[in-house]
Amino acid sequence: MSESMPHGGKLINRIDVHFSKENIRNSVELSKLELSDLELIANGAYSPLEGFMEKRDYDSVVQYMRLSNGLPWSIPITLAVEPLKAKQLKIGETINLIHGNTIYGVMTIKEMFRPDKKIEADKVYRTIDPHHPGVKKLFDRPEIYIAGPITLINRPEKMIFESFYLDPLQTRKMFKELGWKTVVGFQTRNPVHRAHEYIQKSALEIVDGLFLNPLVGETKADDIPSEIRMKSYQVLLENYYPQDRVFLSVFPAAMRYAGPREAIFHAIVRKNYGCTHFIVGRDHAGVGNYYGTYDSQKIFSHFTEEELGIKPLFFEHSFYCRKCENMASAKTCPHDRGYHVILSGTAVRGMLRNGVHPPKEFSRPEVVEILIQGMIETYINENSSIG
Ligand code: ADX
Repeated sequence: MSESMPHGGKLINRIDVHFSKENIRNSVELSKLELSDLELIANGAYSPLEGFMEKRDYDSVVQYMRLSNGLPWSIPITLAVEPLKAKQLKIGETINLIHGNTIYGVMTIKEMFRPDKKIEADKVYRTIDPHHPGVKKLFDRPEIYIAGPITLINRPEKMIFESFYLDPLQTRKMFKELGWKTVVGFQTRNPVHRAHEYIQKSALEIVDGLFLNPLVGETKADDIPSEIRMKSYQVLLENYYPQDRVFLSVFPAAMRYAGPREAIFHAIVRKNYGCTHFIVGRDHAGVGNYYGTYDSQKIFSHFTEEELGIKPLFFEHSFYCRKCENMASAKTCPHDRGYHVILSGTAVRGMLRNGVHPPKEFSRPEVVEILIQGMIETYINENSSIG
């Protein structure tokens, strides 16, 4: 597979900073998640979507993981308002989409509908347990979805790493300039540990370039903040990766923690950024024990490679084996579990918070240094702002 086509055949661009906002009377306040979706629809990352989903697409995505035209799409992209607010809005009307005191975009309302959130949760998250962070967020949202095409008129503010925000048009151009015909995308919401590095480099053995594309939108409170992670990615790449084979740029979406459904979504979006391949390892986009270790790989069997247009590369749970003296997985290592260096995310976060260095077989020392420093600074800032 070479040169990936955007999903649906055309890269969407709905950014117009000169759009006239005159005569617009009504406004809707977007959540952080909705604001990031607005930008990602507009810059083509969510191609072929041109707006927040209308009911027939929403229903079809929830039930069948396809848009109403049959194209694979696994996560509903919707905009929610309170019923009282919906009463003030009219079909056909163009409204401002605001966050804080800023107008970021506009939308022409095509439809308003009340979703069945239990069905959405059950189908998309495979659970209606309100303790699941994605389900909780869904249940906490207002009750009415409003839908229609959007235009982005103002780019949301970037974090400190502005140069790492690239639109799909720009990453596609970059891959071409680098001469990469095949590019493997890597999604992560975590620091890159040795297991991540191992599967990335294994993939890199068979493609031209690695697109390290960490998610930096909203995550749950105990995930490591993206500002700290970004520093750790840079130090890792400087020290351990061939500079001409890897490209780092952020994915400003919110995390849904929808496991298998989100793996499909992550793959499609990376195709829009120009990837031909996409890594799916153990429990991709999972949380707690809601999904089986390889559910996010199994779900790909619902689609043909042609209709997805991006080739998933599946990896088994990887670890350092003290007997092999190497990174390995059950596929390549014959030794007893006692030799394997395996730490849960929660355990690692706990160690970092307490200034304890995870072993170098688990994480590169340079990365650990940055993470511990970052955690200490976060702790100091949080505590100095309390009183
Ligand atoms: S995710 O929510 O973004 O998927 P994470 O950042 O932990 O979480 O994972 C990034 C990618 O690496 C995912 O494809 C995940 O399946 C994979 N992965 C994480 N840890 C391992 C591991 N130990 N072995 C194999 N794959 C892994």
